[in-house]
Amino acid sequence: MNDIKNKNKNNKNAVNSEGVEATEAQISVYWKEEAPVSPSVKFIAQANMSDSDIRERFKMENFPECFREYADMLTWDKYWHTTLDAGNPPFWKWFVGGKINASYNCIDRHLAKYKNKAAFIFVPEPEEESHIAITYQELYARVNEFSALLQDFAGLKTGDRITFHLPMVAELPVSMLAAARLGIIHSEVYGGFSGQACGGRIADSGSRVLVTIDGYYRSGNLVDHKANADIAVERAKSLGQPVDKVLVWRRYPGKYVSKSPMVKGRDFFIDDILKDFRGKYTLPVSLPAEAPLFIMYTSGTTGKPKGVQHSVGGYLSYVAGTSKYIQDIHPEDVYWCMADIGWITGHSYIVYGPLALAATSVIYEGVPTFPDAGRVWRIAERLNVNIFHTSPTAIRMLRKTGPDEPKKYNYHFKHMTTVGEPIEPDVWKWYYEVVGKKEAVIVDTWWQTENGGFLCSTIPALEPMKPGSAGPGLPGIYPVIYDENREEVKAGSGRAGNICIKNPWPGIMQTIWGDPKRFVNTYYSKYNKNKDSKDWRDWPYFAGDGAMDASDGYYRILGRIDDVINVSGHRLGTKELESACLTVPEVAEAAAVPVIDETKGRIPAVYITLKPGFEDKEREVTQKVISTIEKEIGKIAKPKYVYIVPDMPKTRSGKIMRRVLSAIPNKFDIGDITTLANPEVVEKIRLLVQGEAPVITRKRPEDLEHFGEER
Ligand code: WT7
Repeated sequence: MNDIKNKNKNNKNAVNSEGVEATEAQISVYWKEEAPVSPSVKFIAQANMSDSDIRERFKMENFPECFREYADMLTWDKYWHTTLDAGNPPFWKWFVGGKINASYNCIDRHLAKYKNKAAFIFVPEPEEESHIAITYQELYARVNEFSALLQDFAGLKTGDRITFHLPMVAELPVSMLAAARLGIIHSEVYGGFSGQACGGRIADSGSRVLVTIDGYYRSGNLVDHKANADIAVERAKSLGQPVDKVLVWRRYPGKYVSKSPMVKGRDFFIDDILKDFRGKYTLPVSLPAEAPLFIMYTSGTTGKPKGVQHSVGGYLSYVAGTSKYIQDIHPEDVYWCMADIGWITGHSYIVYGPLALAATSVIYEGVPTFPDAGRVWRIAERLNVNIFHTSPTAIRMLRKTGPDEPKKYNYHFKHMTTVGEPIEPDVWKWYYEVVGKKEAVIVDTWWQTENGGFLCSTIPALEPMKPGSAGPGLPGIYPVIYDENREEVKAGSGRAGNICIKNPWPGIMQTIWGDPKRFVNTYYSKYNKNKDSKDWRDWPYFAGDGAMDASDGYYRILGRIDDVINVSGHRLGTKELESACLTVPEVAEAAAVPVIDETKGRIPAVYITLKPGFEDKEREVTQKVISTIEKEIGKIAKPKYVYIVPDMPKTRSGKIMRRVLSAIPNKFDIGDITTLANPEVVEKIRLLVQGEAPVITRKRPEDLEHFGEER
């Protein structure tokens, strides 16, 4: 998944539908341009950033000093002397000479004004359990006690690594902020990952302490989570990394809900040990700005996951700045990001960004549609949430299960975010009209784990929204689109290419943990102009996404460049096919994958789920899907198969696993599905597509090796 270099080399000089020579990076784009939508006067009046001078302040001539504006939102123990040290590309150092602590910035400095305000509100999945508000004062106490425990009981110190394998519970940010207080580098492994996956990450990061929990709720079940810890420790050991302590939070302190036995001398209940640390404090450690704050593994299931390393000073500045200007977070707001803290979105925009701004951040334990399609809107109503943040997949799922539910609840959002994948204009409109009640602005934020924070989005009070487009580069972010020949693809040319960022920014990752070579190869080699150059201008960041720049400077993101289907040399983006399918009214979700074909090379197959009530319309919908694709895209894109399936296989972050869907009709090995939210659906789909016959698997050809790889 990493060495995107040399990919697609078979398709040089293919010919596209207009008979024009197409370069490798050229991906067909079929979405129509949508009319811009303006933010309301009411939103603008209260926005953090309504000064049109901002683009001027962050213009290229003012780089890198413009980013002082973000760093100045924080409290520094010592002010920095060099804003950007770019002397050793592409290992950028931000705010050099500065000293800072993230835990202090997210908690201590807010106490004078906000100690009685909720920092987090934990919403348990069982609806009969009360919400728990944790004030800044209470968070301060908990974080201090746990950091004292990490120091004195677990023997950890600045620079050590610690692995968390925690779900969506308040103990997760408590653990993160306690580690950050001491400069212990945390590595949170998404709670839905298997013990095996966790063990691999423990070993890679060199952690000898694992923090877990006995259980948590998902879809009404109390999941036994501690069992994963035993597998993780075994796996880490087999990879040469001993774990000497497993610290176990309990979902209900004092009551153990897991069946997995506690290992004597290794496993400890945190609530027991904390008794010895009641009222204890630790001093926040003053760290150099470029000290690592955390590692976040990108979740490839093939290829070794990459430990993306983020810095304390640069990262925190960037998430604070973007939370303020793009998320428009004020201390008075009730902000709910429905992502999981186990992903970068949660690190940046549930924990570090919002807390740096003294916000109230909601943590929801469970599944959005549990126990019914109204749950999300009931939470929003009850807590008076006014900023809402989620993904297109979640929006599609909420629309599928309850298209009219939002109307039944009395909540009002001023601001909504979408992140994680391209959002079809049709889905955008439902989000805007039904969820946002035409009152809320929407920001479509494009970025990656590697980036720390948003790269493209509109500034909500200043720039109109355009459904289907993320928007311009953020202040101080200068995107560019290159083709495979390293030529710039001009705005408004109607051509797509590889989106890159010309300049470094404070939120960019520092390196891949333990593998700086891979870091340079993956993100910089492709478009580096001269590997000996010490000038940052020669080192554009390669994101690995296809994109197109409309003439207005708004970027439309087309998805991973690997996710294309090459039909007789025509490169069809999976997103274009899927969005065409979604214009069929009965269709709830669509996923397009390539199927190997003797004559045409690859032909699309599409998987469809139906909206409730249309289950008996299979034949009709199949016909409609085919004719719509032919009409919207062309005969060349006609799918070989249309499979109507009960559900899509999804990661627990909500991404459809196209890798799995492409394996089935092609008879590739299906691979690891333990990280799926709904692994049981895979066999159902396999039966539907392959039937009962024994299956002889075949090897993935080179061009499809990385197709649909989830990140
Ligand atoms: C990939 C990064 C960092 C946020 C969560 C995902 C895709 C992300 C958008 C968007 C179109 C998007 C890209 C990117 N992506 N946001 N607004 N529009 N595509 O983080 O797991 O690191 O995935 O998600 O393909 O490369 P991630």
